[in-house]
Amino acid sequence: MTLQRELDPTAAELRECLTRLPRTLPPRWLYDDRGSELFDRITRLAEYYPTEAEREILAGHSAMIAEVSGATTVVELGSGTSDKTRTLLDAFVVHGLIDRFVPLDVSEATLLYAADVLNQRYPDLVVEPVVCDFTRHLSRLPQGGTRLVAFLGGTIGNFYQEERRAFLGALADVLDPGDWVLLGLDLIKPIDRIMAAYHDRDGVTDAFIRNALVSINRDLDADFDVGNFEYVPLWDDREHRVDMRLRACEPEVAHIGALDLDVALGAGEELRVEISTKFDRDAVAAELTDAGFADTEFLTDAAGDFALALARRR
Ligand code: AVJ
Repeated sequence: MTLQRELDPTAAELRECLTRLPRTLPPRWLYDDRGSELFDRITRLAEYYPTEAEREILAGHSAMIAEVSGATTVVELGSGTSDKTRTLLDAFVVHGLIDRFVPLDVSEATLLYAADVLNQRYPDLVVEPVVCDFTRHLSRLPQGGTRLVAFLGGTIGNFYQEERRAFLGALADVLDPGDWVLLGLDLIKPIDRIMAAYHDRDGVTDAFIRNALVSINRDLDADFDVGNFEYVPLWDDREHRVDMRLRACEPEVAHIGALDLDVALGAGEELRVEISTKFDRDAVAAELTDAGFADTEFLTDAAGDFALALARRR
């Protein structure tokens, strides 16, 4: 197995995000090795319904996805532990033509663990993990064969609308006609269920969001006082999204050594760390068509909580 590594310095992006108002943190700081571990715990929380709902869809429809797509390469963006992906890969190995699986993730430890598990489970499958930030390195997609790019878990919900449009367009650009995309989408539903999923009683989500500051402190020689922040999840009814923020309780000046930057936060000032958009099927189908895809089909769980959109590059 060869492991490819491609991580740009993301420091410049962080400077921009922290110096313009409102201040934000790019979500990739959430998904270091510890963040990936915390997110894995989130997926096992009783309140966090998306993971099980998506697993149910994959269990019911993976054979069809393998047959209809005829994909020979499956690429997974932000694959994490590739846990659910095994359901998809099982079906591809039995019903499909797959010969290669390419997981992309920012966490090297998580990728190596996943690759190890997959190599044992599928001895004939070539597993080619790539350590990268897929929002910057879409050009690193493997070439050849019929490709299916899976972007599961509802992670596309992390993008702001403009970013989502740019991302889908860029994805269409690097794919050839006849390639496929498989998108996991959390659907709009009553707010109390959504908010419970992002404010669990055990405080795992709180620790997960806070970890963005921990990884910035470590990787960029910064001194954010992590304990001075309160986790604040908000529902944005107009944009249909959960808005996860960290609010500074006391004023603080954080120094980021690697950027030679001081960030002065007033009491009550917030950092926007992550959004999680909830989708409407028709709107997504229109966005996929605009981006260059066709024949979008939606697969859902019995409760209608979550959807997978399968679409073909025109
Ligand atoms: C990994 C982006 C799909 O938005 O539900 C979960 C991230 N953040 N709890 C989501 C997340 C807080 C998750 N995604």
